[in-house]
Amino acid sequence: MKDPKTYFIRTYGCQMNELDTEIMAGQLEKRGMTLAASEEECDLLIFNTCSIRDLAERKVMGKLGRMGRGAKRQTLIGVAGCMAMAKKEALFRKFPHLDFVLGTNNLAELGTVIDEVLYSQRQVLRTEDRFVENLDYLGAKREDQVKASVSIIRGCDKYCTYCVVPYTRGEEVSRPPESIVEECRNLVDKGYKEITLLGQNVNSYGKDRPEWSALFHDLLYRLDQISGLERVRFMTSHPVDITRELMEAIRDLRTLCEFVHFPIQAGSNRILKKMHRIYTKEIYLEKVALLREIVPNVSLGTDIIVGFPTETEAEFEETCEALRQIRYSVAFLFAYSPRKGTPAMRWNDDIPEEVKSARLQKLLEIQEEISQEERKQMLGQTVEVLVERFNRDGEHLKGRTRCWKKVIFKGTEAMIGTLQQVTVHGYSHQTLVGEVRTGGAIPLL
Ligand code: SAH
Ligand code: SF4
Ligand code: F3S
Repeated sequence: MKDPKTYFIRTYGCQMNELDTEIMAGQLEKRGMTLAASEEECDLLIFNTCSIRDLAERKVMGKLGRMGRGAKRQTLIGVAGCMAMAKKEALFRKFPHLDFVLGTNNLAELGTVIDEVLYSQRQVLRTEDRFVENLDYLGAKREDQVKASVSIIRGCDKYCTYCVVPYTRGEEVSRPPESIVEECRNLVDKGYKEITLLGQNVNSYGKDRPEWSALFHDLLYRLDQISGLERVRFMTSHPVDITRELMEAIRDLRTLCEFVHFPIQAGSNRILKKMHRIYTKEIYLEKVALLREIVPNVSLGTDIIVGFPTETEAEFEETCEALRQIRYSVAFLFAYSPRKGTPAMRWNDDIPEEVKSARLQKLLEIQEEISQEERKQMLGQTVEVLVERFNRDGEHLKGRTRCWKKVIFKGTEAMIGTLQQVTVHGYSHQTLVGEVRTGGAIPLL
């Protein structure tokens, strides 16, 4: 097999996977490889996979199966990401044409794994359970030029009963604060304006390393000092670890945006307990109330799972009620999908798919009504938008407010990467439509 010159990485799953793809791409470019125009024409094809729900895995499995049926094979094929960890060597049995399986904690070894495949002509497996901080973050090949993701903690120790992440990413390992600050400074020097701090549970940051005396909110205060950095966001947080200190940081810090992803998962205490979410609906609601008291203009996002084993109609109604009561500005809604190796697998997946779909549909309708009202309220308001790029229509610019609302408006290329005051005059689907408020808001260029 020849030394690969071009690569293509297909990414599934969450923002952490997107970042891992950028880190892998950086390593491959350092090796002298270039990005191929398409996945059909590359010398090396990597699937950076996700295992969170069955559908996520099925998409990749189908693709891998079809590739094996092509008789000629010059392309080196690898599987990285969470499915690599969930299935390990079973992937080689199922897909004999696969060249390597690289776990989420082995990204730094991508180059050596490729070399090993080339020299040994054998299938290579690397799946370490625990993450060791050894990544070349500064070498990451970034997709965007205005916003960047920075990983601050990997793994998860929460063990929600339905979730594969603690098994596919391992236990929590925080990254040293100096390394995070250095990367953020470097990004700002390159012109980035917004940084999203990533982790499966960012609020646990630093708890595994008490000697650093740097918890999540301490890190946020340090990053706020970086001049030129306009906005900081974070993804994702566990409700239990959303502290008063964090709420006050959102109120007080210039850079920290007023948006919190605050996933409730379910509205019934019995289901929350069975999910091992370690809070009750009452504790959750108290936290939301405190956050709204400290940061009155905060927007909230959530994740919800419907059809968890044994969920009754009345318990589902409690989730509907929570959605109506809390009024999130974004809600990601999922049907429960049993995952191998998780504690919830021991319970029968007893809610029929039609019932799950009907429950999802009902939540979608409730949420749509809330979002519609929220968009109406925005009409006539002027909001601060960080301009990211041209919208797909090629006619408008696209950006987001501090509360993560997407806004499009007419403007010039020079506005990309700047903050603009935009007055909202309409909306289409989820997107607000506005125009730049003239007089002082446009930077002198
Ligand atoms: N660390 C994040 C979750 C990452 S997974 C957090 O705790 O917020 C994103 C979402 O996928 C979860 O919040 C959950 O709503 C959903 N999810 C996870 N496992 C699932 C499963 N087995 N079936 C359906 N949805 C699931
Ligand atoms: Fe999964 Fe729960 Fe950890 Fe989130 S907190 S990654 S849902 S185990
Ligand atoms: Fe999927 Fe793994 Fe992210 S399971 S959602 S890629 S942490």
